[in-house]
Amino acid sequence: MNFREKYGQWAIVLGATEGIGKANAFEFARRGMDVILVGRRKEALEALATEINAETGREIRVLPQDLSEYDAAEKLIEATKDLDMGLINYVACLHAMGQYSKVDYSKYEQMYRVNIRTFSKLLHHFIGLFKERNRGAFVTIGSLSGWTSLPFCAEYAAQKAYMMALTEGVAYECQNTNVDVLLMVAGSTITPTWLKNKPADEDTCAAAMYPEDVAKEGLDQLGVHMSYLVGERNRNNHQRRITEHSRDEIIAELGKMFTHMA
Ligand SMILES: NC(=O)c1ccc[n+]([C@@H]2O[C@H](COP(=O)([O-])OP(=O)(O)OC[C@H]3O[C@@H](n4cnc5c(N)ncnc54)[C@H](OP(=O)(O)O)[C@@H]3O)[C@@H](O)[C@H]2O)c1
Repeated sequence: MNFREKYGQWAIVLGATEGIGKANAFEFARRGMDVILVGRRKEALEALATEINAETGREIRVLPQDLSEYDAAEKLIEATKDLDMGLINYVACLHAMGQYSKVDYSKYEQMYRVNIRTFSKLLHHFIGLFKERNRGAFVTIGSLSGWTSLPFCAEYAAQKAYMMALTEGVAYECQNTNVDVLLMVAGSTITPTWLKNKPADEDTCAAAMYPEDVAKEGLDQLGVHMSYLVGERNRNNHQRRITEHSRDEIIAELGKMFTHMA
């Protein structure tokens, strides 16, 4: 599908420098959109912009921004106000590994500003704009941990659950309009962040996907599903987990996978 024809000229990827955000940015350009790349590392974003432009010929702009800044959402809204914005992709999601009470609380506050405050402000603004225009799309990246909880990364899973529930609710409210909202849920994906925090479980690691495959399969679901778990193996494993195990068993299974991060 040509996203530009359906949603508008510009896509913005919040957290585009590496991993799933980078792969999604390529996909948006391949699907006809010009793309704005947001992240903190200006030089890495500029190198990526050159790479995407060379492959796709699309216009790629770089907007360095720390999403944990108090007024990050307002700055991004101001910077894009004169553009034909078609698609917003919220990718960045900070995490903190370790026992809940041993992580400094200021880290959770920083996470809150990226994962909840800036996210929800942008969702609120752009869904309003898109509904008024009756055209546009918002894609949030979810995680299985938002559906299950995650010991030794508990605050991340809790904040992810917030992002996921909000996106799904808004997706339903946008049905029967030309505004498409998708919660694109990833399982283990081989990104620099995942490689640093791998679970101690061979099956989970064996099922890990490449970001490029996650992006292609996930973005094909935009306008088709409100909520979609990428990867057949992930879907089968998740289904088995929630049908065959109690909630206590699921929490314990996940806890064992991340005890080494305590
Ligand atoms: N990898 C997995 O296995 C997995 C599984 C399930 C769900 N997910 C979800 O998928 C998404 C992407 O994960 P990922 O592993 O590809 O990468 P990630 O480490 O979550 O995100 C990396 C991106 O976010 C940007 N970023 C981080 N903090 C930022 C900040 N304060 N302000 C602006 N940008 C910031 C980074 O760029 P800069 O460093 O340039 O700022 C980078 O582009 C996340 O929402 C994650 O929860 C991942």
